[in-house]
Amino acid sequence: MEQSNKSNQPNQSNTNSNGNEYFVIKAKDNGVHVIGLTRGQDTRFHHTEKLDKGEVMIAQFTEHTSAVKVRGKALIMTKFGTIDTEE
Ligand code: TRP
Repeated sequence: MEQSNKSNQPNQSNTNSNGNEYFVIKAKDNGVHVIGLTRGQDTRFHHTEKLDKGEVMIAQFTEHTSAVKVRGKALIMTKFGTIDTEE
């Protein structure tokens, strides 16, 4: 059986199945929502975090979170670069 490493614990190459990457969301307005979607067959919202202007959330993809939706005016910083939700 395939040995998968779905935990957020690093393996020998210091990565896991989620990539271990952090991303940063900086709210440019009050009431920005950062919504975590579940990993696996069932894709649903499992957590909504509300950020006010200037607030920053630093997060990772995890065993429980495979996708994130951002609603509102924000900067999203990832290893791919910075995305402005308004542009
Ligand atoms: N309990 C969640 C998890 O471990 C916390 C979390 C991690 C989260 N990354 C997120 C919530 C991104 C919302 C968005 O998966």
